[in-house]
Amino acid sequence: MNNPRIDWSGHDELTPRHVAFIMDGNGRWAKKRALPRTFGHTSGAMRVRAIVERCVERGIPFATLFAFSSENWKRPAEEVSALMSLFVLYLEKEVKDMDNNGVRLKVIGDTSRFDARLQTLIRQAEEKTAHNTRITLTVAANYGGRWDMLQAARRWQADHAGIAGAEMDEEALKPYLSMAYAPDPELVVRTGGEARISNFLLWQSAYAELFFTDVLWPDFSVAEFDRALSWFAAKDRRFGAVTAKVAG
Ligand code: FPP
Repeated sequence: MNNPRIDWSGHDELTPRHVAFIMDGNGRWAKKRALPRTFGHTSGAMRVRAIVERCVERGIPFATLFAFSSENWKRPAEEVSALMSLFVLYLEKEVKDMDNNGVRLKVIGDTSRFDARLQTLIRQAEEKTAHNTRITLTVAANYGGRWDMLQAARRWQADHAGIAGAEMDEEALKPYLSMAYAPDPELVVRTGGEARISNFLLWQSAYAELFFTDVLWPDFSVAEFDRALSWFAAKDRRFGAVTAKVAG
């Protein structure tokens, strides 16, 4: 369903309304250059702006980035800490610019495990940019698709005490999922050569087209993104039906 808060004017039916990115390959990018893995993440963070700008140019009103998965805590402590610092730095540096450029920032995931400073920065960034309508940029941080479904089911239950679980159907659960404010992603792009979804937007990606590229995220260029969009535009999206139709 179209969100009335969003300016859809630049959007056409061959362009996805929501693109989600699995930004993989930062570590390998750094290794190839004999640099520490964290350099790869820093370079990866620097790619984000050009890709978000391209989304705006192409009339894509929702972009989502998988920045830190629930499973990433298993990485060495210093890498986890470097990723957190990068997130803090990103919020401190970019939010003003995002606000000036009409970007609404949202963060999804279990942020309760982040330190207080990061949680405050996230809240402030969301509040500051809440009125923007050009593009909604969602950063998935300490996010997992299974976590999302579980937290939705738990919150539904808390709001429906005494009501049988059988009453919980898809439509009832949807408002409790963490991306309830956005249309489902129509295109998921994964860089870095692996062809898997890695517990990203599991519910929301049910009908998404999945574009896998060997390009490592810090090398993911606007040209490669355009290639993904052309690939998407050529798809015959049937949603389980027989006759071709475009998402409505
Ligand atoms: C996967 O690469 C990438 C991550 C776990 C983190 C992605 C984070 C960023 C691009 C920067 C943060 C972004 C924002 C918006 C603040 P990997 O380390 O698994 O790479 P590898 O598979 O080559 O080891």
